[in-house]
Amino acid sequence: MAPLGVSEIVAAVSIDGSVLDAGCGSARLTLAIADAGAAEVVGIDTSDERLMQGRERIATHPMSGRVKLIEADFERTLPFPAGRFSASVSRLALMIAVDPVATLRELRRVTAPGGQIITALWAPVNENPWFTLPRAAAAAVIGPERADYARAFGRLGGLEEATRVHRAAGLADVQATTLRQTLDVRDVAGLWTWMVGEIGHLRRLDATLSVSERAAVLDELGRLVTDERADDGSLRLPRAMTLVTATV
Ligand SMILES: C[S@@+](CC[C@H](N)C(=O)[O-])C[C@H]1O[C@@H](n2cnc3c(N)ncnc32)[C@H](O)[C@@H]1O
Repeated sequence: MAPLGVSEIVAAVSIDGSVLDAGCGSARLTLAIADAGAAEVVGIDTSDERLMQGRERIATHPMSGRVKLIEADFERTLPFPAGRFSASVSRLALMIAVDPVATLRELRRVTAPGGQIITALWAPVNENPWFTLPRAAAAAVIGPERADYARAFGRLGGLEEATRVHRAAGLADVQATTLRQTLDVRDVAGLWTWMVGEIGHLRRLDATLSVSERAAVLDELGRLVTDERADDGSLRLPRAMTLVTATV
């Protein structure tokens, strides 16, 4: 399944010029923007591991010449002059910032007047059972402290909160909308396996589980997913993300 938000950001961003992707991770969105025709996309991230994954992803791609990945921290002054980019995007990273308004102000500084700022954040946890139920199942079996991963999930993702934070950074034309998707999986084991592949936090937790702990977590998860079970026993789990578009 295409990662929720990537095609929506690509559709919303103007590709006439140079685009910054803040907290680019393994450069999925970065590359998708280059694929859409942007002449230059610069991804920044603080994680060597994620940047390395990104470099591997772009290495053999025909658009690799249009993508630059740089180690930089969006909580500090970015190594770019004012107005360097025609647009800045950030998917699922802003909620990690200690001071998201300051981070957005810095994205605003490096984006040209009239340029776009587009961010995506997971909507609050109650709208994302695909994420919260596995975490709750793990917490019930191994304790909330060991299962205390991805605490920032859902932070700032409410429509009002997301709008307020972007406006507080001095951005104009702020519009927040909800993107929805359903994750269809065969059963709880399929859900767990998919999430371990997708979510680094869960992968690290899973690596610490004994065989019996993992089996108990899946049993508990099976008990928790009652509302999400379809007639054929498969699972249909809602996912919701907040997409914010604004101008400098
Ligand atoms: C959940 S991942 C999202 C990655 C990517 N944007 C995507 O949509 O797949 C969040 C990313 O933000 C990065 N990050 C966290 N704090 C950061 C900071 N202060 N400056 C730059 N990147 C940061 C992390 O290393 C991680 O790669």
